[in-house]
Amino acid sequence: MTVAPESPAVTPPSLLATLPGHWYTAPGVFRREQEHLFEAMWFCAVRGADLDRPGAFRTVRIGRESVLITRNRRGEPRAFLNICRHRGARLCTEESGTVRRSLQCPYHAWTYDLDGRLTAAPNLSKMPDVDRVERGLVPVRLREWLGYVWVCLAEEPPSFEETVIGRWPNGSATRTPWSATAWRGWRWAAGSPTTSRPTGS
Ligand code: FES
Repeated sequence: MTVAPESPAVTPPSLLATLPGHWYTAPGVFRREQEHLFEAMWFCAVRGADLDRPGAFRTVRIGRESVLITRNRRGEPRAFLNICRHRGARLCTEESGTVRRSLQCPYHAWTYDLDGRLTAAPNLSKMPDVDRVERGLVPVRLREWLGYVWVCLAEEPPSFEETVIGRWPNGSATRTPWSATAWRGWRWAAGSPTTSRPTGS
């Protein structure tokens, strides 16, 4: 059995230091990573072609949230927190699918149109104080670029132009679409400062 040395060897100056082991397991580090990276930055979430018609949807996990991405009746992409505004149930439990014109919660049948507006619920007509827009799905910031749908959970997202488009390799919009964050992480991991790039999507 290999026994780890009691005191780690000093990293030679020519090698980049690696992260301490507890950074990969500590709950506090994980929470901060979720808050400051995955829930604060733009992410390449789904291919636009996967939402090939109004009502087609995908659910993706971004940070600690489930996000529902769909197209409305005009074919425009829309993203919402995948949470029913009645009692907070998960609205869509499938990873993907297509609905005809509305999204209905499986719990008590609150129903939303593809723009997130509350359109129907049991006894809704007897509840005039329930505002259908106010009680609609919570929108998530979204951009469609390079054939991909990008989302950001932050209430005030960083500039998409500066943090995604402007950081694309060579500023080109013709390269293989990929998550800009993943690209930077890959480049860091590969130790490649500028030129190499991934070929997958
Ligand atoms: S929790 Fe969705 S309808 Fe009640």
